[in-house]
Amino acid sequence: MAVIAMVSAKGAPGVSTAALACTLAWSDRTLLAECDPAGGDILAGYLAALKIPGDRGLLEIAKADLRDQLEEVFWGQLIDLDAPRRQRLVLPGIADPAQAAAVRGMWQRLAAFFAELEYADPGYDVIADCGRLAGTHTPWPVLARADVVLLVLRPTSLRSIHPATPALAVLRRQLTEATGGDGQLGLMLIGDGDYSDKEIERALRAPVIAHLPDDRRTAAALCGVGSQGGSRALLRHAASAQTSIRAAIARRRHFLGQATGRADVVHHGRCPAPPVPGVRGAGMAATRPRRHSGGPAAAPQRPPAHARRAGQRGGRLRGRQDVARHGQ
Ligand SMILES: Nc1ncnc2c1ncn2[C@@H]1O[C@H](COP(=O)(O)OP(=O)(O)OP(=O)(O)O)[C@@H](O)[C@H]1O
Ligand SMILES: [Mg+2]
Repeated sequence: MAVIAMVSAKGAPGVSTAALACTLAWSDRTLLAECDPAGGDILAGYLAALKIPGDRGLLEIAKADLRDQLEEVFWGQLIDLDAPRRQRLVLPGIADPAQAAAVRGMWQRLAAFFAELEYADPGYDVIADCGRLAGTHTPWPVLARADVVLLVLRPTSLRSIHPATPALAVLRRQLTEATGGDGQLGLMLIGDGDYSDKEIERALRAPVIAHLPDDRRTAAALCGVGSQGGSRALLRHAASAQTSIRAAIARRRHFLGQATGRADVVHHGRCPAPPVPGVRGAGMAATRPRRHSGGPAAAPQRPPAHARRAGQRGGRLRGRQDVARHGQ
């Protein structure tokens, strides 16, 4: 269980689609957090047919944070994709980029809260879609708290790889400033192109941690367009990516543990961070958050047809057709 942040340098390589595919395909409890300052996609995309009110999510948590109630409000803002199992949760992002400034002040505390979800009962992986680095209001505290930061890119041509160089430079600088290193950085490649993984790793000086296929039909279905069909290769590879991402996190935790000589770092994956004002217990790896009382709302109506078919077909997605009842 960990925090996995995904970002892109430029263009739309498929960050949001990859984050949703991983959330749907991973075997452990997973929370998809739409932290993209340009706005969330899931309510108007994958879950569009459910007509969930757009006021659910990040902005409500930011308002609650002003009243020092982030933790209390958090669970009620989530959507349960697997209702009532709470296996796959979504925190919808802001509905309008103009709201990015309003949620900015909350990132530090929300990032600390995400990091603590690993130790909640039950624990969750958090996959944070952090959008494009080229934009403003990047949620840096979330990236800094992540166990792995994946720069998502399409290795189709030199033109598509090129923007990764300055983006990685910014990420290295910011992560080093915030955490003392950039060992959490890696690449997620979407589709194939003119260059091998090895060539890309050499050129960008970052490891390829996961590779998802170009699978237009499944990607379109995850964006709420068209119907699910074809090979569903994207979801299968997303499931496999869990293993390679976990391995990268384990390597880093091991390295951090050896570097600091601290057993708790090996075990918990990060040095206990200073407590963050406003979030009880946040930042302390040894402090388990309270078991939450409220729960995420199940998505309100029948899921989109493509989602129901995905649920019927796919082993791990089977619970997906349960997104049919509203929990509130
Ligand atoms: N693995 C994939 N194979 C084929 N098409 C894909 C894949 N992933 C995403 N796409 C398509 O690419 C487009 C952009 O996807 P997505 O919104 O996930 O990108 P993004 O990087 O999040 O973009 P943005 O920066 O605008 O948020 C969509 O039309 C989507 O269907
Ligand atoms: Mg996106």
